[in-house]
Amino acid sequence: MERKVGNSVCLWLILVAHPLWMTMVLANMEGDALHNLRTNLEDPNKVLQSWDPTLVNPCMWIHVTCNNENSVIRVDLGNAALSGQLVPQLGLLKNLQYLELYSNNISGPIPRELGNLTTLVSLDLYLNSFSGPIPDTLGKLSKLRFLRLNNNSLAGPIPMSLTNIYSLQVLDLSNNRLSGVVPDNGSFSLFTPISFANNMNLCGPVTGRPCPGSPPFSPPPPFVPPPPISIPDFKYGGPTHLKVPKCKVDMSYKHGRIDIGTREVLGSSGSPKKHL
Ligand SMILES: *[C@@H]1O[C@H](CO)[C@@H](O)[C@H](O)[C@H]1NC(C)=O
Ligand SMILES: *[C@@H]1O[C@H](CO)[C@@H](O)[C@H](O)[C@H]1NC(C)=O
Ligand SMILES: *[C@@H]1O[C@H](CO)[C@@H](O)[C@H](O)[C@H]1NC(C)=O
Ligand SMILES: *[C@@H]1O[C@H](CO)[C@@H](O)[C@H](O)[C@H]1NC(C)=O
Repeated sequence: MERKVGNSVCLWLILVAHPLWMTMVLANMEGDALHNLRTNLEDPNKVLQSWDPTLVNPCMWIHVTCNNENSVIRVDLGNAALSGQLVPQLGLLKNLQYLELYSNNISGPIPRELGNLTTLVSLDLYLNSFSGPIPDTLGKLSKLRFLRLNNNSLAGPIPMSLTNIYSLQVLDLSNNRLSGVVPDNGSFSLFTPISFANNMNLCGPVTGRPCPGSPPFSPPPPFVPPPPISIPDFKYGGPTHLKVPKCKVDMSYKHGRIDIGTREVLGSSGSPKKHL
């Protein structure tokens, strides 16, 4: 009995004093989170077989990559024939940069907790069976460069919060059941219709479909046959195309002469007064 107490005091001292204790706790927490995912997935090809929860951390597991502090930075499970659902505990992988789960048969919702993965660079959930909304919490992923959720069954609106992710380089929301307005401000000013193609009911300028209840896009101008004479002004240099500084043109007129350089400009751009 006495020895037992001595042992636990000793263990207690080791745990408290040891500088690696915190990273061990972290690693275990991350291992537990991933093991939780494993128990929630069907894995016919046994790609998760190495995910042994009795190991001190998940860093030796296949398809998992850690940094030097034994914290998980990548989960690579694309094309792995997995089905089942994700778990909220994935939000605990606080150093995760790559979550690659594309081309599986994973269903159910995208957990809101993925918005806690603030170091995430790439979230690839495309070609699965995800349903439900795109969580607005994903707008917190301020380092995200790749967000590919295409070819799922996601429904509801595109969260406005995503427009705050200025690091976003690749966005693919195509082939879902999204509806409502496609944002075109913030980071979304970069993206073209391809990112949003083949959804149920998206609207807004980028889709070419006005949203119900909102004013239509500026109507196309009535057809006017083009004038028979071409317009050299337009072609060779409105003011923005002039390379010669305006002050030089000014000077020439002030002194009642036109030098060669200026004449060239004037000659090709029509009436000089227009540009002064
Ligand atoms: C998803 O499941 C269906 C059958 O339910 C199967 O035919 C298909 O190959 C699976 N897809 C992937 C990517 O595993
Ligand atoms: C993780 O996300 C959920 C839902 O978005 C939130 O309620 C929770 O507080 C977050 N947890 C941490 C540790 O940030
Ligand atoms: C994504 O979905 C579209 C529409 O259903 C389909 O045409 C396309 O082949 C799918 N992409 C892939 C890579 O399967
Ligand atoms: C884009 O516009 C929406 C509302 O129209 C707003 O909620 C959102 O904050 C805007 N995004 C940025 C980055 O300004």
